[in-house]
Amino acid sequence: MRTMLLDPGMDLTLRPMRYPGFYERYRAAIRNTWTVEEVDLASDLADLATLEPGERHLINRLVAFFATGDSIVANNLVLNLYQHVNAPEARLYLSRQLFEEAVHVQFYLTLLDTYLPDHDERVKAFAAVEHIPSIRDKAEFCFRWIDSISELSRLETREDRRAFLLNLVCFAACIEGLFFYGAFAYVYWFRSRGLLGGLATGTNWVFRDESMHMEFAFEVVDTVRREEPDLFDDELAGRVVRMMEEAVAAELAFARDLCGDGTGGMTADNMRRYLEYVADRRLARLGLPARYGTANPFPFMEFQDVQELANFFERRVSAYQVAVEGEVAFDEAF
Ligand SMILES: [Fe+2]
Ligand SMILES: [Fe+2]
Repeated sequence: MRTMLLDPGMDLTLRPMRYPGFYERYRAAIRNTWTVEEVDLASDLADLATLEPGERHLINRLVAFFATGDSIVANNLVLNLYQHVNAPEARLYLSRQLFEEAVHVQFYLTLLDTYLPDHDERVKAFAAVEHIPSIRDKAEFCFRWIDSISELSRLETREDRRAFLLNLVCFAACIEGLFFYGAFAYVYWFRSRGLLGGLATGTNWVFRDESMHMEFAFEVVDTVRREEPDLFDDELAGRVVRMMEEAVAAELAFARDLCGDGTGGMTADNMRRYLEYVADRRLARLGLPARYGTANPFPFMEFQDVQELANFFERRVSAYQVAVEGEVAFDEAF
């Protein structure tokens, strides 16, 4: 008898494939391959020199968060997610996601090296997770949820599986889906003013990857709920909402640290409304009612998904074909 997705073990059987949707997500992710070398960050340096002190503070704090964010996600992926999602096609996707997180880590490493040429400033930014409270608190939120299932080597009981679902939802809805979306909003706010185009280009690709990571995780949740309908009950839903409230609070504290009294239209209060709007969207994706009922205050984020998609394909057509010709025949692999 075939197992369910969260049954312990190591299913190696790809035919007949139980979850072709996960395999399609893996293939779609491969089609999105990009490299850090394609992003020209040097063009941002002139813009950085024109920023007001408040804006410069904001951007320094933001890149300090980026310095560790994706490494934390990659760790949870290896330590928790890969182990427990028992389908080889789903594990293909997670392998690909791990590669993407590595590209993100490399992108942010390059970003910090470019934006912070001063040695001491750079060292401080990389250590932000230890000494800047608003960044440390977000990391601690993540670590708490990594630790929540680190002792579980097998999901044997109903409680084990519920704990796993909470970890999965936390990383998809609260970390990739909220902390990162908040961070991207600052980037696109600069772009809406014609600033930091290099960072925005890289962010477009990171944004697209993160949207897909989140959607994969939600599809895992959907699958588990179909297979084991009693796991995601009202009590668990209540825990998800409380977790989301905590994430919004942590990200809002970060926003207060970044924005101070507000800089050129970017204020902590606008960011609060954006985070509440995003949190409601995540809850809706999980089939839960809105917690905040707040409208999106950032018009420049409204069409981000769609616009990003268009830019991506426009830009990729030639570059991608060159890469395929020169390196490896992807079509044969499929
Ligand atoms: Fe990432
Ligand atoms: Fe991610």
